[in-house]
Amino acid sequence: MGLSTTRFLVCVTSLLPLCAAASLLPSTPKRATASGAGTVQWSPASQCDPGTDCGFVIVPKDYFDPSAGTASIAIARFNATQLPKKGTVFLNPGGPGNSGTSLASPLLSTYLIGPQWDLIGFDPRGINQTSPQVQCFETASDFDTFSAHTVLEQGFTVASSTNLTNPAIEELVEQSRQFLALKQSQAELCGKNMGDELKYMGTATVVRDLDFMSKIFDGEDAKINYWGASYGSILGSYLVNMLPDRVGYVVIDGIVDPVVWSSEPSQNWPINWLQSTEKTYQFYLKTCSQAGPATCPLAKSANEPSGNILARLETLFDALALAPLPVPFGSRPGFLTSGAARALLLEYLEDPTLWGESALAFSQAMAANGTLLFNKLAAPYPGSISTPHYDLVRLGVTCLDSPPPASPSDVPTAEDLAAQLVKTLKEVSPHFGASTSVSEPDGGCQFWPVKGPERFTGPFTANLERPMLVISNTLDPITPIYSGLHVHTLMPNSTVLVIQDGPGHTSTAILTPCTLGLVQGYFAGILPDNGTVCNVTYPYFSDESGPAAASSALIELPGLEKDAPALIALLRGL
Ligand SMILES: *[C@@H]1O[C@H](CO)[C@@H](O)[C@H](O)[C@H]1NC(C)=O
Ligand SMILES: *[C@@H]1O[C@H](CO)[C@@H](O)[C@H](O)[C@H]1NC(C)=O
Ligand SMILES: *[C@@H]1O[C@H](CO)[C@@H](O)[C@H](O)[C@H]1NC(C)=O
Ligand SMILES: *[C@@H]1O[C@H](CO)[C@@H](O)[C@H](O)[C@H]1NC(C)=O
Ligand SMILES: *[C@@H]1O[C@H](CO)[C@@H](O)[C@H](O)[C@H]1NC(C)=O
Ligand SMILES: *[C@@H]1O[C@H](CO)[C@@H](O)[C@H](O)[C@H]1NC(C)=O
Ligand SMILES: *[C@@H]1O[C@H](CO)[C@@H](O)[C@H](O)[C@H]1NC(C)=O
Repeated sequence: MGLSTTRFLVCVTSLLPLCAAASLLPSTPKRATASGAGTVQWSPASQCDPGTDCGFVIVPKDYFDPSAGTASIAIARFNATQLPKKGTVFLNPGGPGNSGTSLASPLLSTYLIGPQWDLIGFDPRGINQTSPQVQCFETASDFDTFSAHTVLEQGFTVASSTNLTNPAIEELVEQSRQFLALKQSQAELCGKNMGDELKYMGTATVVRDLDFMSKIFDGEDAKINYWGASYGSILGSYLVNMLPDRVGYVVIDGIVDPVVWSSEPSQNWPINWLQSTEKTYQFYLKTCSQAGPATCPLAKSANEPSGNILARLETLFDALALAPLPVPFGSRPGFLTSGAARALLLEYLEDPTLWGESALAFSQAMAANGTLLFNKLAAPYPGSISTPHYDLVRLGVTCLDSPPPASPSDVPTAEDLAAQLVKTLKEVSPHFGASTSVSEPDGGCQFWPVKGPERFTGPFTANLERPMLVISNTLDPITPIYSGLHVHTLMPNSTVLVIQDGPGHTSTAILTPCTLGLVQGYFAGILPDNGTVCNVTYPYFSDESGPAAASSALIELPGLEKDAPALIALLRGL
């Protein structure tokens, strides 16, 4: 927290050219909007999910330049089922890169937001059915073949576990060289195929879209209401700080630090994100040991010291570093590397409903069968546009949000990237400090061909009429509670922090009646006490892993037991 605040002040002073350039941008959009903007094109009901309306909202492509024409935002709406209707809640599922239309669902109305609200899910700029859409590669399969068997897919391998805190930097430099070459290559391709169409995908532009859409659906003076998780917390933080007088009810869950996001280059993000990862890993190992070999095959006996399980996993990662495991009969033929296996364990830590599956996958890999693990990494050819990391959608957002290099000589070299990985391993997460690049494919923004018309850099200290609800888990391995506390510290009177005391990425990783009830209560006008803690009871490493197991934790809410698998499937992958 201290670190990021300091860096932010540095941006204001020493990187003056950059900050000055940002402040030259117009601060309010032009009044005249592109012709055609403001209409809604509804699609035939047959093209929408049952019970929803869907279509496209035509918006100005560039809120500062009407001559840029229009963009079309894919939306889906699920109407309030109870009168009086209170307005619309806009929903964002994170990524960035995830499609939001499926969130306009009766399940979210019933269990999360409440029956008096219209729900609108949308595909943010660049994503899925919204156009312009990020399509740097000609086909999904071109994108897959580009990444396959490279460091982009396989992650960074740190050679020896015994030297995790003292890794051989040369190997990370070598992998970083490949990483940068791939990033440069794909960015140049993207510039050629997309050109200026890439300029309008930053989070600040999406905030303008929320404002614009809210006026269409709820009227000029109505407040903007919003729920967002993971990256959706960034959109929420930008929204309340860019337009503090326009917002009503806002909930963010699984908090990403907006100061770090907007003021640090992306290679510096993981050191902030991984602050709770080791604690989550310890919890994973402990609950595996308690579950014993029947449901956690990584354990040799019930209640064995969790250090033994850790050592077994490290032995696997070491063996893979020496010799990758051939996977001839996976979703496609390939091989499993140490970097990929570690990155997959990090992904599994985010989702406790899959811990049983993870134990099976890792124990099979220890027995020289890497199929199950590899299949989680490598989608069958050809990939699909509906996967979050399809094409370069995420970079389309993150490269417009993060600060551009102050000068051409200020770009990170392979040596800089490797040094940052080592720093993260040493200072924050000895097991996963180099493992975020697979699940969070950022980086190489120095090669990105465009800048956006607007980049928001804070301050993140707005005063709000109604406090924003901020939700953090105590053991979130990628959006740590420290980020939730930081957002709260910056806006102490305008946020209320709710803590879910359990593991997983965002509170929806394990749905608890307590947290769901507080969110629904908030949207009904009941503000929880700051610091309220919701406990989690969950059958970790349940043998029926996946959504079915999750339902057993939810019987306290009538109906939810039956709906839990569908609700979890909807919220998974935030
Ligand atoms: C939702 O409400 C709008 C406005 O009242 C109405 O026009 C529309 O038909 C409703 N949609 C559905 C699916 O009932
Ligand atoms: C770990 O690092 C130390 C000191 O750099 C070195 O002596 C040792 O051989 C390394 N161990 C392994 C297993 O590579
Ligand atoms: C390897 O694991 C996969 C997935 O669990 C399984 O289908 C396959 O039969 C296994 N292969 C061997 C040789 O055991
Ligand atoms: C993208 O949009 C299509 C059409 O609405 C939908 O079927 C698909 O599920 C969406 N992708 C995702 C990831 O939701
Ligand atoms: C928060 O409210 C307290 C009590 O009203 C006030 O003293 C304090 O200055 C406020 N803080 C901010 C940052 O507005
Ligand atoms: C809100 O709760 C958090 C967590 O308990 C605490 O750290 C923070 O100080 C509280 N904020 C205020 C304004 O009391
Ligand atoms: C949550 O757990 C803590 C510690 O186990 C306990 O003191 C507290 O009463 C529990 N809260 C609820 C609401 O069950």
